[in-house]
Amino acid sequence: MTKHLKVIAINGSPHSQGGNTSIMTQMIAPWLAKEDIELEEIFLADQMIEFCVGCGLCIEKGTCWRRDDHARIVDQALQADGLILASPVYFGHVTAQMKVFIDRSLAYGHKPRGTWKPGLAISASAGKGETATADYLAGLLGVCGTFAVGNLTAIAVGPGKFMGKDLVEARAADLATDLARAIKEKRRYPATDRDLASYLFMGDLVKRQKEFMRDDYRHWQAADFFDGFEKYMDQYFTKQPYNEDMRKQWIKDLIAQAAGHGADRVRPVMPKRPNPVGTAPSSEVSCQELLKAMPGGFNKMAAGDLKAVFQFKMNGTENFDAYLTIADGRCSYSEGMHASPDVTIKSPAQVWLAISRGEMDGKAAFMSGKYQVEGDLSLLMKLGSLFNR
Ligand SMILES: Cc1cc2nc3c(=O)[nH]c(=O)nc-3n(C[C@H](O)[C@H](O)[C@H](O)COP(=O)(O)O)c2cc1C
Repeated sequence: MTKHLKVIAINGSPHSQGGNTSIMTQMIAPWLAKEDIELEEIFLADQMIEFCVGCGLCIEKGTCWRRDDHARIVDQALQADGLILASPVYFGHVTAQMKVFIDRSLAYGHKPRGTWKPGLAISASAGKGETATADYLAGLLGVCGTFAVGNLTAIAVGPGKFMGKDLVEARAADLATDLARAIKEKRRYPATDRDLASYLFMGDLVKRQKEFMRDDYRHWQAADFFDGFEKYMDQYFTKQPYNEDMRKQWIKDLIAQAAGHGADRVRPVMPKRPNPVGTAPSSEVSCQELLKAMPGGFNKMAAGDLKAVFQFKMNGTENFDAYLTIADGRCSYSEGMHASPDVTIKSPAQVWLAISRGEMDGKAAFMSGKYQVEGDLSLLMKLGSLFNR
């Protein structure tokens, strides 16, 4: 036998049936009915719900001491397959009826539930505040373990006088169809920064106040929510074995790709401190990859109208010739020997790498003959300022 599916709509309008909020809520009903889902609308204006007196006993004991209709309505909401919270805008917010209902729900306010049921928020205004009010209600659905698949809002000046009523109806149809689908497929959305923020806030609060928020603390413990955000969301990070070689190769590929294709857009990671003879990516790359990547960090403002060719003749751990051409505010990398470079740097690759990473002082290395320079020495001194760090 298939389960009878039911959506509960809690409506905070004093107008009850016939009010704009109810008209909007009832626009949902036929589309749910098409999917064999019943909609029951509860009008808070017809219920007896006393104010919250702020005694805080409910977060200690788990229930409110006041005996009225509140607990029954929350119970219905918790049992439902989907939940709608609906309120017109009264002075920029929900109505007093809805607010009292929410305030009285403190016993449930710090108890996230793993039910992850879909729902909707609905709000009508005369032209100001309905989107914010619907967003507020959408956030509060969480108190009953529900998340919003969307908000239905409308501007209505006078009973039933909607602005673009056909569009409100069309939106209601879409949302209702989506709500029905979400209920049937037991939809979940991926975790968001808002989920994380509320988890961290609430978990911290409940833990710090555990002597006072006794029932909330019990709830978190019983659900193992203190075990972490993954457990709380019931969503887990993909487990992949860590492979240091793969990571290094990946970094190399990214840098090589940036140097080759996206030189104008992608800037490689640069070393931490300024270097008199040039800069380089700080990850473990070869000297040649480093030179290839340099156009990615080229500072065209610093270069101005400079035209120069820097030739590199590398030996030692890597044997290669390459040059950087700077002209028209651009920098490009080429392999081989340039016919007439302005300056030529002859260096063991490991020395140039160390200098570029800031591990060796460039000037001191030059003075002590660790590498040689031919041509315009002043260009060498400019090299550092031509590339972003
Ligand atoms: C006390 C009161 C305050 C209201 N405050 C606002 C408001 O801040 N912004 C707004 O656009 N409409 C405001 N309205 C208009 C209602 O939100 C609007 O008429 C709505 O359609 C009523 O929906 P209902 O028939 O479901 O109660 C207010 C109405 C009343 C009675």
